[in-house]
Amino acid sequence: MNKIVIAIDGFSSTGKSTIAKQLAKTLNYIYVDTGAMYRAVTYFALENKLIGEDFFKEDELIERLGEIAITFKFNEAAGFAEVYLNGKNIEADIRTLKVSKFVSPVATLSEVRRKLVEQQQLMGKDKGIVMDGRDIATVVFPDAELKIFMTASAETRAKRRYKELLDRGHQLSYDEVLENVTTRDRIDSTREESPLVKADNAIEIDNSNMTIDEQLQRLIVLAEELI
Ligand code: C5P
Repeated sequence: MNKIVIAIDGFSSTGKSTIAKQLAKTLNYIYVDTGAMYRAVTYFALENKLIGEDFFKEDELIERLGEIAITFKFNEAAGFAEVYLNGKNIEADIRTLKVSKFVSPVATLSEVRRKLVEQQQLMGKDKGIVMDGRDIATVVFPDAELKIFMTASAETRAKRRYKELLDRGHQLSYDEVLENVTTRDRIDSTREESPLVKADNAIEIDNSNMTIDEQLQRLIVLAEELI
């Protein structure tokens, strides 16, 4: 069987990782959530007081990038790989609104991107991988055999993320979530380094009115044509 690289990009909270995870499981592929890697660097910056409400010690973060080792380890019970920072499981810590708030500024730094892209390319060098993020089809794997660009209205995405965070026991308002989603979209799409754009040959899927199963079936058909 021909192993391929499947790149899934798109705006915040489009449900990319839910679909990517299930697609990888169906195809028996590796799944890599690159957003988790940017979140891990942000978590490190927050823990070390390198970023906060009114400051961002960019140079210090860049100097200390060598102290950051990000790994993934498969959790059988969860059914997906969880993210570790220097050996510590931070899967739950990176999913907070606080990390979501600071991740896009951190992800604008070219030094951070260079480090993470290099690691992502290594993880996908043997193909058989589904990777989701913002620059996978444009920068990380410009030769990916299948490129998907996921979209949905900002309100649909904020509602989904709001429900997800409430279910996890976070206390927050819908407006805060909507504000975070639209701010991240703006920063991610307008940054100088690897902005979020649809790759020329990517297939756009607006999933505002699609169920998870409908999306998955669509992707399986597209992938199987290439395998
Ligand atoms: O996918 P997720 O929403 O967890 O990503 C968090 C943030 O990480 C994004 O808003 C974006 O700023 C950054 N990111 C990125 N490039 C990627 C993946 C994520 O810049 N490939």
